[in-house]
Amino acid sequence: MKATAVAHPNIALVKYWGKRDEALILPHQSSLSVTLAPISVTTTVEFGAPEERVELNGRRAEGGERARILRLIDEVRREAGSRQLGPVAVVSRGDFPEAAGLASSAAGFAALAVAARGAAGLSSSSRAASILARLGSGSAARSIQGGTCVWHRGQQADGSDSFAEQVFPEAHWPELRLWVAIVSSQEKKVKSRDGMRHTVETSPYYAAWVKDAEAEVPRAVEAMQRKDLAALGELAERNAWRMHATAMGAAPPLCYLLPKTLEIIQGLAEARESGLRAWFTLDAGPNPVLLTDASGEGELERFLRGTGVEKLVRCVPGGDARLV
Ligand code: PMV
Repeated sequence: MKATAVAHPNIALVKYWGKRDEALILPHQSSLSVTLAPISVTTTVEFGAPEERVELNGRRAEGGERARILRLIDEVRREAGSRQLGPVAVVSRGDFPEAAGLASSAAGFAALAVAARGAAGLSSSSRAASILARLGSGSAARSIQGGTCVWHRGQQADGSDSFAEQVFPEAHWPELRLWVAIVSSQEKKVKSRDGMRHTVETSPYYAAWVKDAEAEVPRAVEAMQRKDLAALGELAERNAWRMHATAMGAAPPLCYLLPKTLEIIQGLAEARESGLRAWFTLDAGPNPVLLTDASGEGELERFLRGTGVEKLVRCVPGGDARLV
């Protein structure tokens, strides 16, 4: 009754921002992301452990964090039915900074969902794992499978049709490159879950965001299908701007950008005029993720080094979350 799973984070090119159901983590709109290798989280779940224990990156998890993890475990216990699984031990470790706009929670909850289902002997259905991971963190639903995934918002009140599925495997476009520019690795002041709730409740632009983002998902799939970097890049940029615009429209306003973030994304737009083929996206944090392909990577790296950014993380499309 012990299993270990590895999962990669993902970066959304059409973002998820706002829940229609806070408890079940059901989004107002669909979203689309690319799974990121080589960075990953590895999680071991053991049922029938000597004592209940939850450890994240070498420290004991507490409060809300621990509660969210145990909630997933409770769901697994419920699905296991009358079988007694006993106390659980969860040990998780990631190889990249937490809460820095890189969705470590996505990889963490995806690895947890796959490991917990494995340890309890439940089926390896990616749909069931995506629904389970979603209960920990919405974006985790999109880290169960590799390549490009779409998280369907769903219609059902119980969340049974709100899961992510792969639309293209990582082998569809292996030349795609995603560089994370770490402007600050400090934990952000307003977590995504609080920021999005505040935006839903107070931003007058929120309804327009939902309508637009939903319509962008099929356009992003089409650009991915054609491997049209410029179309995908432009779409990713405008979607990131619109997510941040709706958050900035909240009361009081919510701004995740730092001066350095703006310097990079404005510099990028200028560099594009002299031929650089790269575009940005930005989660709820200050660290832009730059999108290019293998042929534009050298020039992008030179551009990024020139900005004096703290740290760069180079990613390629990653694979499925898996038991190891
Ligand atoms: O899954 P959460 O609660 O970490 O929210 C993620 C929200 C964004 O990263 C900003 C967008 C997204 O779709 O990943």
